[in-house]
Amino acid sequence: MKFNILSFDEINSTNQYLLENAPNLENYTVVTANKQTQGRGRKGRVWESSSNDNLYFSLLIKSIDISFEELSSIPQIMGLAVCESLQMCGISKSWIKWPNDVFVDDQKICGVLCETRLKGISLEGLIIGVGLNVNLPETELQKIDKPATSMLVQSNDKKPFSTKETLHVVLQAFDKHFKLWQQKERRSEIVELWRQNSRLIGKAVTLSDDQKTIYGTVVDFSENGEVILQSENGLKAYSYGDLSLRLQ
Ligand code: ATP
Ligand code: BTN
Repeated sequence: MKFNILSFDEINSTNQYLLENAPNLENYTVVTANKQTQGRGRKGRVWESSSNDNLYFSLLIKSIDISFEELSSIPQIMGLAVCESLQMCGISKSWIKWPNDVFVDDQKICGVLCETRLKGISLEGLIIGVGLNVNLPETELQKIDKPATSMLVQSNDKKPFSTKETLHVVLQAFDKHFKLWQQKERRSEIVELWRQNSRLIGKAVTLSDDQKTIYGTVVDFSENGEVILQSENGLKAYSYGDLSLRLQ
């Protein structure tokens, strides 16, 4: 992939920018910002984006052969890219929390928000937004309502990371995993990487959406990026929801 990078100092949301401007932008445009005034997570939740020196970026993919069933794979392909990049930066112990987060131990370091722009019933653009806490100091992390961490806090030498280089590393890693995923006969390799980068398999969890909560145990992930749970509903794959670990 040849990425075309557009950088802003401040913007409402890099995802919003791509949603609005996709028709006029090239495939693989990446929008980055130093700050976002309306950074968002899933379901309108706020993504804390007021501090400089972090990564807030969104990637636009325009020509993609993907079915709606396969969409849950995308945040986790980006999650893999982030885990691998963190390892390259000397930060081990990161894992993908299905469906869209990366944690280091029990603290969140990155969130991924995938949104689609539709034209009629066809997909005009897939937007993959990433918030990665690169140099967020402890004082700022404590203001977030749930446990959060940053690369700086996790690093051994506590030396700031270059956001530009980190972006480059994440995009290269995404490119590699996305190309692998696009070869349908090699999807089992991606599933294996999801397993290796998950801490959920065998764990008791709750999976909630607006209508219901399911109590189950994580068994595996599917080639479509679904989580496979064993619950009172039997063995079933789920493509979305908020997943929490249950204390056993
Ligand atoms: P789930 O428990 O299902 O993963 P979540 O509570 O993590 O859901 P998301 O929509 O995935 O919800 O992420 C948004 C949440 O992430 C916010 O509600 C907030 O708790 C947390 N958050 C916001 N900004 C940051 C940040 N910069 N770093 C880490 N966490 C953040
Ligand atoms: C989540 O954990 O719910 C996802 C958070 C995604 C945040 C990123 S920051 C860059 C892009 N622009 C946004 O408004 N959101 C995503």
